[in-house]
Amino acid sequence: MILVTGGAGFIGSNFVLDWLAQSDEPILNLDKLTYAGNLENLCSLQNNPGHIFVQGDMGNDQLLGTLLVRHTPRAIVNFAAESHVDRSIHSPNDFVQTNIVSTFQLLETTRAYWNTLPTQAQKAFRFLHISTDEVYGSLDKDDPAFTEQHRYAPNSPYSASKAASDHLVRAAHHTYGLPTLTTHCSNNYGPYHFPEKLIPLMIVNALADKPLPVYGDGLQVRDWLYVKDHCSALRRVLHAGTPGQTYNIGGGNERTNIELVHTICTLLDKLHPKKDGQSYQTQIRFVTDRPGHDRRYAINAEKIERELGWKPAETFETGIRKTVQWYLDHSEWIEHVQTGSYRAWIEKHYTEPA
Ligand code: NAD
Ligand code: DAU
Repeated sequence: MILVTGGAGFIGSNFVLDWLAQSDEPILNLDKLTYAGNLENLCSLQNNPGHIFVQGDMGNDQLLGTLLVRHTPRAIVNFAAESHVDRSIHSPNDFVQTNIVSTFQLLETTRAYWNTLPTQAQKAFRFLHISTDEVYGSLDKDDPAFTEQHRYAPNSPYSASKAASDHLVRAAHHTYGLPTLTTHCSNNYGPYHFPEKLIPLMIVNALADKPLPVYGDGLQVRDWLYVKDHCSALRRVLHAGTPGQTYNIGGGNERTNIELVHTICTLLDKLHPKKDGQSYQTQIRFVTDRPGHDRRYAINAEKIERELGWKPAETFETGIRKTVQWYLDHSEWIEHVQTGSYRAWIEKHYTEPA
């Protein structure tokens, strides 16, 4: 089996769902269930014996040590993190604690377990660390896209804490030989995306007749990848990646924020027209910029394509249409997230402690 951390979050839950749809190999899902963890994302797995959920902190060495001995996973896929840049500006402490300290503890407990494995199992073991393109910092308009050789220049407490965790992962490989893999993905979007991030926030606010807040001039550029394409890339890296290597993941879909918000409004105008006949664009409001706002991210994904044969399946047009439709079809999920009732899911449906 494999152990996934943070498998109740946005990307983690998509990964768990896709994995179990394609493989008989079980998943042990360790998630602390912060505000970003939502077990409702995984409700379709409730009676699936291939999904074992444990609520807990990846930095809890006693808990993790017990789980590793009991379940002997052949790999760990580390999604768990504090992930929202705006929150990192207001509460950087949580990001240092989770993304640096808890990731370090996860690595230490993993290393202790890995040291006990027979030689063949040690060789086959993988620790896949999910990082971000934000560790490379910000690009100017005409700069080439980030390659794996780009220097680290994180600008927010979030990206700085992710960069620190990347270095700890690198050191675990270089010093102790732990077979690690690190990926740097661009902005994801798709089902189960928590509506504090740009795309789901715009859809949810539009439908609720609320303002669509665009930071600054709206001309910042992000490079968007449909979440299921990220998951397929991670499966590929886990299967065929070379230990100690890093891989960039992206779909080559650069858009300015304002362009993206217009696209969402246009799709909603078609799929769910406003009752007053106006366009959702009338709800757009330019607001104060995010402090230290990175201007542009862009990923060069040639290495993963060349070495591992991975390519995204979705274009931006197909992915964003599916995403808008998903939110239109899941009003109950939105309501539970907004009222906070998704947090009661664990008490109602999962009583199994560690
Ligand atoms: P998310 O915030 O939606 O989910 C994070 C999950 O981690 C939650 O379920 C939370 O409960 C869990 N968690 C937090 N602290 C934990 C701890 N100490 N122990 C166990 N679980 C814990 O995040 P996401 O958007 O799904 O991102 C997943 C990973 O991918 C993160 O590492 C993030 O840095 C990285 N990433 C995200 C994007 C993106 O666009 N969302 C892009 C590139 C990389
Ligand atoms: O690049 C990968 C990163 O993408 C991940 O590592 C992060 O975990 C993920 O949150 C995301 O970071 P961003 O800061 O790029 O995503 P966010 O959705 O918060 O913002 C996207 C862009 O939209 C950014 O330029 C800020 C802007 N924005 C965001 C919000 C929430 C707005 O203009 N208005 C908003 O209300």
